[in-house]
Amino acid sequence: MSSRRESVSQEETPPACRPRMTTEAIREAHRDFVLPAVQTFYDEPMPIVRGQGQHVWDSDGNRYLDFFGGILTVGLGHCHPEVNQAIREQVDTLQHVTTMFPNQPMVELAERLARLAPGDCRKSFFTNSGTEANEMALLIAELHTGNSEVIALRHGYSGRSRLTMGATGQAPWRLGGSTAAGIRHVANAYCYRCPFGLEYPSCDLRCARDIEDVIQTTTSGRIAGFIAEPIQGVGGFITPPPGYFEVAVEIVRRYGGVFICDEVQTGWGRTGTTLNGIDHWDVEPDIVTYAKGLGNGAPVGATVATDEVAGAVRGNTLSTFGGNPVSMAAAGAVLEVVERDNLADNAARMGAQLRAGLEELADAHPVIGDIRGKGLMQALEFVEDRGTKAPDAAFTTCFLQKARDEGLLIGKGGLYGNCVRISPPLNIGRSDIEGALVLLDRALTATEAALR
Ligand SMILES: Cc1ncc(COP(=O)(O)O)c(C=O)c1O
Repeated sequence: MSSRRESVSQEETPPACRPRMTTEAIREAHRDFVLPAVQTFYDEPMPIVRGQGQHVWDSDGNRYLDFFGGILTVGLGHCHPEVNQAIREQVDTLQHVTTMFPNQPMVELAERLARLAPGDCRKSFFTNSGTEANEMALLIAELHTGNSEVIALRHGYSGRSRLTMGATGQAPWRLGGSTAAGIRHVANAYCYRCPFGLEYPSCDLRCARDIEDVIQTTTSGRIAGFIAEPIQGVGGFITPPPGYFEVAVEIVRRYGGVFICDEVQTGWGRTGTTLNGIDHWDVEPDIVTYAKGLGNGAPVGATVATDEVAGAVRGNTLSTFGGNPVSMAAAGAVLEVVERDNLADNAARMGAQLRAGLEELADAHPVIGDIRGKGLMQALEFVEDRGTKAPDAAFTTCFLQKARDEGLLIGKGGLYGNCVRISPPLNIGRSDIEGALVLLDRALTATEAALR
């Protein structure tokens, strides 16, 4: 592996990017005035003041290689010129009308989604976040089927509203407990820690087949739907094996339900080769949801359903900011670039390079228990011991800090807090992947030295 050094470097911050407050004053105000449950990374979280392409700068002028992209959101890199140009032009033309008036950027995006969304998903409803997109999807499923019970996955993350928290399968993100009735959480396809103690493929996809048992024993036998991420993002990029969704969705449909595919993290080329994460399996959703990477940072959520399913939504609905021309213009520009530059293919190529490098790291660092993901969505799961697989959350926290000290930003995840999520921009090049692998190697070594 190359020994190129690419640690934190300092650079003069342009005057326009300098914050009016000192770093410490920003941290203090965050502590004093922001809800304490709002999580930040690192003991001393650094305010980010500027981003360009694959880099961000903090308020002290330190530059970082950003391999998290604000939770898989800045898929084209920071301040992408074409996206920003589209935003600038739109904000100077028309910023807001509400869904009460059709607007061109919105219908253009809806038309594009009808072409690019999986299967026959063709009718869009726009909101501002992944939470709202999933909330709407769950409502549509209920209206369409006339059923109210929903199957969700353990370790899944669906959002922060009461209903989507209810669908979320991770205790730390279900604040205040769940009041949402009728949601059953089935075992997920977590092959590294198989809930049934089996191994793929001799397991015969027991986790997917168990959905039938759960429906028969814990529901009325008629369900509204099944909500699932193709790869569980917050869960630590847990990736179901081939055949999983085919079996799961067949069962769900047999009991009256629709398949809601949450592409909030996996959408738009992230998983490599295909635009939608679910295209790696041979199934078509009835409803698909997008957010994050769709806007490259502009707030946007989209729920896209088949004509038949969408037709069940009668009565009135609106979203004041949903479909606002500025977010729509940003999303339109994102998809234009993703398609034109074949970024799904780049994600496949660069993802393969990243994966090969991570596997080399696993040879040298036994703390790496599992490597998983697809394309430019790769995770490491850290364990105290490869035999017992005891999760090593302390190592993960320390490692995140050491990677930052080396000038690399990555994310954390997993129910046990022992996974790191690596998700560079989709247009990343070979040298940055190579550089990041060197920094990861150094951060692993530094963490081992500090803790072992
Ligand atoms: C898979 C998935 N769905 C939904 C959401 C909720 O999106 P938002 O935070 O935009 O409300 C998230 C957020 O992390 C997510 O990862």
